[in-house]
Amino acid sequence: MKLPFRKELEVIKPYVPGKPIEDVQKEYGLQHVDKLASNENPLNCSPQAIEAVRKEAENLAIYPDGNATELKKAIAEFYGVKTTEVMPTNGSDEMVSLIAETFLNAGDEAIQADITFTSYIIAVNMMGATPVVVPLKDFKLDLDGMANAITEKTKVIWLCNPNNPTGTMFNEQELHDFMKKVPDNIVVVYDEAYNEFVTDPSYPSESYKLYQKYPNMIVMRTFSKIYGLAALRVGYSLAQEEILQEINKIRKAFNVNRLAQVAAIAALKDQAFVKKVYELNKEGKEFFYKAFDEMGVSYVPTEANHIYVDVQRDCNEVFVELQKRGMIIRPINKTFIRITIGTMEQNERVIALLKEVLGK
Ligand SMILES: Cc1ncc(COP(=O)(O)O)c(C=O)c1O
Repeated sequence: MKLPFRKELEVIKPYVPGKPIEDVQKEYGLQHVDKLASNENPLNCSPQAIEAVRKEAENLAIYPDGNATELKKAIAEFYGVKTTEVMPTNGSDEMVSLIAETFLNAGDEAIQADITFTSYIIAVNMMGATPVVVPLKDFKLDLDGMANAITEKTKVIWLCNPNNPTGTMFNEQELHDFMKKVPDNIVVVYDEAYNEFVTDPSYPSESYKLYQKYPNMIVMRTFSKIYGLAALRVGYSLAQEEILQEINKIRKAFNVNRLAQVAAIAALKDQAFVKKVYELNKEGKEFFYKAFDEMGVSYVPTEANHIYVDVQRDCNEVFVELQKRGMIIRPINKTFIRITIGTMEQNERVIALLKEVLGK
């Protein structure tokens, strides 16, 4: 059978999600399995979002509002921006694809870090464009290196701040210095999936409105992380109306489902929940720093809800050993694993198991 698969697919490696908890339970005959692999929210989501979903379940036969009018309004009001500058999507992941489809042709270049969020490279390759991958420097995005990689062919630059999986950030000054070097006909995607977890005061302030200063910038955020709505798939971007109007031409008509729209509105209102998650995450990361310092294990201080740890053993081996013991983490690269910061109980458990596995 010879089907006409697009040649771009040849270079694309599929996203490999972590094993679901149920599979690990079955495979190893375990009662209790924790998953600290996908940067999910250990406190689930706001009870108000759950209540909104319950109510909206009455309307499952009805298509969602394709314009997500109320959600746009809620986000616009929350930030004090225009509704025409807001675009909700099916997770911010959908926006990554929409941006690639809107701006990239075969032969164009898109600059990104190595290592960063995996969706960017898939979206770029699918358009037949060329990913230009700039290695991290001290686990941070090498913004000078990325600026130096700009050529006539560059159409898009992906910035992830804080970066997944390293949890590192660049500060306000570094961002502005970088933007000075970027011609304004290049689209800069500023992905802030984890911004709400940042504790470093030098982080770019009021970054949601950076697109007003830099009209070539698209700011991406999500309800999947601090708001805990990953299952519902809802993210949003803030950008100039002119950009969003073009992207809107190719957006699927009903990309954000009914339950997601009402849950996101309710979640946004419950900032007390957001604060609770932030505090728990802060406590968790400090716990990890102390534990790893005591174990003599090196890690990268994080501004996100996950921590990048050098286990000085093959990361896949450590992943399997932890999995056997009912703990799912993410092996990333060589000797590095990424652990999502969980409840304090989960954090203590992963440390105890790591001590066992690493013989510390
Ligand atoms: C940096 C980054 N951006 C975007 C996303 C996509 O999030 P979602 O599609 O759930 O909004 C993720 C998810 O892990 C991420 O880590």
